[in-house]
Amino acid sequence: MSATFIPAQREPELTGQTVVVIGGSAGIGLETARRARAEGASVIITGRNRERLDHAMNEIGAARSAAFDANDASDLASFFRDLPGPIDHVMVTAGAPHYRPPLEIPLDEARHGLTEHMLLALNVARSAAGKVRPAGSLIFMGGTGARRPRLGLAIVSTVTVAFPALIANLALELAPIRVNLIAAGFVDTPLSASLLGENLDRRREELRATLPIRRVVGPADVAALAVHLMSNTALTGATYDIDGGQQLVS
Ligand SMILES: NC(=O)c1ccc[n+]([C@@H]2O[C@H](COP(=O)([O-])OP(=O)(O)OC[C@H]3O[C@@H](n4cnc5c(N)ncnc54)[C@H](OP(=O)(O)O)[C@@H]3O)[C@@H](O)[C@H]2O)c1
Repeated sequence: MSATFIPAQREPELTGQTVVVIGGSAGIGLETARRARAEGASVIITGRNRERLDHAMNEIGAARSAAFDANDASDLASFFRDLPGPIDHVMVTAGAPHYRPPLEIPLDEARHGLTEHMLLALNVARSAAGKVRPAGSLIFMGGTGARRPRLGLAIVSTVTVAFPALIANLALELAPIRVNLIAAGFVDTPLSASLLGENLDRRREELRATLPIRRVVGPADVAALAVHLMSNTALTGATYDIDGGQQLVS
């Protein structure tokens, strides 16, 4: 008698939930918003550029959007305070790494580079805590590329190492709301394109040739992980690497 296979069938993972993406008009944030919509969530996206935000909102059918700089603590607090109801998840993809050499970077910029990402996380935790339902989650973005000390990377390397400690502590502070960090290697997004300029295609080729997965990691790969972190209520206080094995070969 031949075996009968029953194809996996499942309900969308985020039906009836609301997902806020701070930095949802491009790259990893936009793909996370798109995937959360596909999983049945209502989505609210933010970014600084209104035009880009409107375009993304129409493309994915977001319920709402807001244009402000996430690093402005008072605008961030107003945004969360003015949300019409409770939310379930917040994904933060706003921000960019600071790559200038530590001995040359002006001190103010160094201070900025060392604190910006972590203060944003702290501010989101404070502002969102009263709005997120108990089984919900906060997700932040970090990296794997600067885990080991490397010439020129002192600022980003320090933040890379410190960020998981902040996330683990926030998971204790905000419990039962869950808090997690995604640490990505190279992801093919507008940010990567702007950082690499004319070297982008060469970098993609290099990664295709050397990564254990033999392809470049895209924003949809990270979005899939983000949605899993939202729906799997066993996960909190941890850092999840997604780099196609880049750390093993570079
Ligand atoms: N791409 C990678 O290889 C990679 C690797 C590791 C970690 N990461 C981190 O992952 C995050 C997302 O990266 P990505 O590559 O998806 O970036 P991206 O393509 O530049 O997209 C960033 C999104 O955030 C918004 N944004 C940026 N700064 C903001 C601010 N201050 N306030 C509000 N919105 C802001 C942008 O819109 P506006 O510009 O209109 O504001 C855009 O919607 C970043 O924190 C990045 O450092 C990226």
